[in-house]
Amino acid sequence: MDLDLLLKPVKILITGANGQVGTALQLQGENESFFNVIPLDKSKLDITDSEQINELLAQHLPDYVINCAAFDHIDEAEHKSETCYAVNTEGVEKLALACGDLNIPMFHLSTDYVFDGHYASGYTEDDEVAPLGVYADSKWQGEERLRQLLPKHIILRVSWLFSEQGNNFVLRTLEAARQSKVLEAVSDRRGCPTSAADVARVILAMLKQIHNGADAWGTYHYCGAEITNRYDFCKEILIAAGNYENFEVEKMVPISSKDYVTEAQRPNTSILICKKLLSVFGIRQKPWRQELQWLMRIIYNQQK
Ligand SMILES: NC(=O)c1ccc[n+]([C@@H]2O[C@H](COP(=O)([O-])OP(=O)(O)OC[C@H]3O[C@@H](n4cnc5c(N)ncnc54)[C@H](OP(=O)(O)O)[C@@H]3O)[C@@H](O)[C@H]2O)c1
Repeated sequence: MDLDLLLKPVKILITGANGQVGTALQLQGENESFFNVIPLDKSKLDITDSEQINELLAQHLPDYVINCAAFDHIDEAEHKSETCYAVNTEGVEKLALACGDLNIPMFHLSTDYVFDGHYASGYTEDDEVAPLGVYADSKWQGEERLRQLLPKHIILRVSWLFSEQGNNFVLRTLEAARQSKVLEAVSDRRGCPTSAADVARVILAMLKQIHNGADAWGTYHYCGAEITNRYDFCKEILIAAGNYENFEVEKMVPISSKDYVTEAQRPNTSILICKKLLSVFGIRQKPWRQELQWLMRIIYNQQK
């Protein structure tokens, strides 16, 4: 093989680059000479706009597109279904068509919400989907469009993302703990928290293997190691943050999901089984507790 070609960095174009996973991918990708990262946020590339997609793909000619763009306001989606499908389904279709024209493989993120949560032991990639709301359905339809249009794709379903930015459970819990003496959290909703940085690690590790010839296209699950519930996760967040900050909270109250009414229905158990990722790529789950500790260091160093 041509040595120049071998040493040339792999060009990855990231859509939705300012989101949780997009930002983590930028940081990690830019730290490695293996990658040449082209981060495009919504202001630079709106994935609902085919013309813009075609123009930017032709301009940059990336080796891979990683789609981190999504409309993931789960409750808002119930009354903004048009916007939600435009991004999560039709936007994915538009990207897949453009990638297909230029023979560019695509990595895409999806969600545990494609399942209805009735399997208490968790879900494999082969389990039947049953999306409960507009967001969940739009993500499932997006997956299906990608499967139909672009054989060279990776769909990575992830769950319960957290990072130092955006609207995530960790930051919402910290905010609530600054303002309330009593914190309520749902104790019968089980899942696996996952740091956005960890997802970025997994995507880049998969991408390297694919680039080196692994013929492993398809759908995979990834989440942080260890099952928990929202109430216990909330406690862990406060313990981890308690090393840096004193909170107002005097009492935590476990509540039932039946008493926590939201516009969109959510799966009660959304545990992703990640054995396929381990057997095909050799990638192991990282404990989310360790990632949570790292996150606290980042959050509180930022505030100094
Ligand atoms: N967050 C979770 O807990 C979770 C769980 C499971 C799966 N996922 C999936 O994982 C992926 C990454 O999630 P995340 O938490 O990193 O999402 P995020 O932080 O919400 O980032 C998504 C990004 O996409 C941008 N975006 C929205 N519409 C767009 C459009 N039309 N064109 C281009 N960009 C657009 C958003 O910009 P604006 O903010 O400016 O709209 C945002 O920067 C998504 O596919 C999501 O569905 C997330």
